[in-house]
Amino acid sequence: MADPMPRQPFPMRLQKFLARAGVASRRGSEDLMTAGRVSVNGEVVTELGSKVDPKTDVVCVDGREVHLEDGSVYLMLYKPKGYLTTMDDPQGRPCVAQLVPRDRYPGLYPVGRLDKDTTGLLLFTTDGDMGQHLLHPKHHVDKTYQAHVDGVPDEVDLARLRGGIMLDDGLTAQARVRLVAERPDGSSDIELVIHEGRKRQVKRMCSAVHHPVLDLHRSSFGPLALTAVEEGSWRLLTKEEITSLRDVAGL
Ligand code: URA
Repeated sequence: MADPMPRQPFPMRLQKFLARAGVASRRGSEDLMTAGRVSVNGEVVTELGSKVDPKTDVVCVDGREVHLEDGSVYLMLYKPKGYLTTMDDPQGRPCVAQLVPRDRYPGLYPVGRLDKDTTGLLLFTTDGDMGQHLLHPKHHVDKTYQAHVDGVPDEVDLARLRGGIMLDDGLTAQARVRLVAERPDGSSDIELVIHEGRKRQVKRMCSAVHHPVLDLHRSSFGPLALTAVEEGSWRLLTKEEITSLRDVAGL
């Protein structure tokens, strides 16, 4: 298999690094340097012959860190109902692997999981480090869910959901929860923002306050919102989205 990113001779010239990172053309990158807008490890570098080691040096343009693409892929899937979050189901049931370009991007895997009947944003990457960091509880990555629930939770129920609910695997962390709408049939829509990722967590929380979930949808994952993608389809993340993910993952 071809290496997704040909090896760079390290160190490399700073203007080449900037061009490879997509900041500007080689010439445009030189202009940025001579204008004093580029720093390496906190020091402004204007000399055009300067070299950097992309693995260890921190390069910033106008104070924002710039990364060299390392060949990793990041995409969001708008997961429909009826698909298991797995890349391989020995029983041959519908699974998310059938909805993403796994042959084009070997090593692609889902970051966390959504239940079979949950819809919404599911992140995929080939970047193992990023996936692990995003799922690590210490990074508190917020996930936003839209839940259609039976009945209408009152203020006491909402306060319980916000403050922590004792489930059989322990107390849930504080959450942001609001009633969005009451439906004519007596059910309602609530929004929950949680940063834990326990199995069936939202459903178990809502059941604990006697408002079981009828439908569940994830509208955001950390800084990512489910935009510009149709149900059942995927799209690559933009550079800005990847940078914001790196920020929340502490990378
Ligand atoms: N919580 C759940 O109960 N189910 C999901 O799919 C995601 C969060």
